[in-house]
Amino acid sequence: MSAVEIFGIVKGFGTGEARVQVLHGIDLAVEPGQLTYLVGESGSGKTTLISIIAGILRPDAGRVLLFGTDVHALPDRDLALFRLATIGFIFQQYNLIPTLTAAENAAVPLVAAGVPRAEAIARAEAVLERLGLGAMARRLPRQLSGGQQQRVAIARALVHAPRLVVCDEPTAALDAASGRRVMELLREVALEPQRAVIIVTHDNRVFGLADRIIGMEDGRILHDGTTMPPEELLA
Ligand SMILES: Nc1ncnc2c1ncn2[C@@H]1O[C@H](COP(=O)(O)OP(=O)(O)O)[C@@H](O)[C@H]1O
Ligand SMILES: [Mg+2]
Repeated sequence: MSAVEIFGIVKGFGTGEARVQVLHGIDLAVEPGQLTYLVGESGSGKTTLISIIAGILRPDAGRVLLFGTDVHALPDRDLALFRLATIGFIFQQYNLIPTLTAAENAAVPLVAAGVPRAEAIARAEAVLERLGLGAMARRLPRQLSGGQQQRVAIARALVHAPRLVVCDEPTAALDAASGRRVMELLREVALEPQRAVIIVTHDNRVFGLADRIIGMEDGRILHDGTTMPPEELLA
């Protein structure tokens, strides 16, 4: 079974004269055990597409199957539960809660799913350890570097062992060395056990890590392969 199958995804924003058509009918399948990069210039619809795949945003038309489940056919409450169990989403800006420690932040999806707090913290600490942050578990976000905060955000996305991991420009705010380390960690941790990982990135230093690279332009897929897309898609 494919991890992700999408058919005819259409999405626009606004009404009347101000209406902007952002996605023009996207079809795509992503298999488990693969690291896929989604690239394309700013405004091409990458964030909109992964938000629809991750069930954060509803499409105007089309279907999204995640491991066979038609997610946008689910009512909001069921979709929220399905998302919690199935997807880890890593945001560009980390979105850590400033008053919680690294371990407490990483434990959020488990606590939300009803796992007792002590067990949730212990599991979060184990993931932080694996990401090289064991010694930082009790620190607050402001006591961590940008690269460390991003790794806490990755720990939070992986802590509940989701079958699909989606990341929106996870290295955009990082220096080259931290960015590469974050990408290597995502490749390593996220692919074992087998799960699908989709990463939106502009970072051409890390293209060699992907199994597949999909290039978008103006709400359409214009490149799909194992190699870099043409330069003009990366402006
Ligand atoms: N909530 C929204 N309301 C109106 N326009 C939006 C909204 N979200 C995105 N857009 C527009 O959709 C287009 C694609 O945006 P986005 O998916 O964020 O592109 P990317 O992530 O590739 O930069 C842009 O023109 C953007 O301005
Ligand atoms: Mg974006």
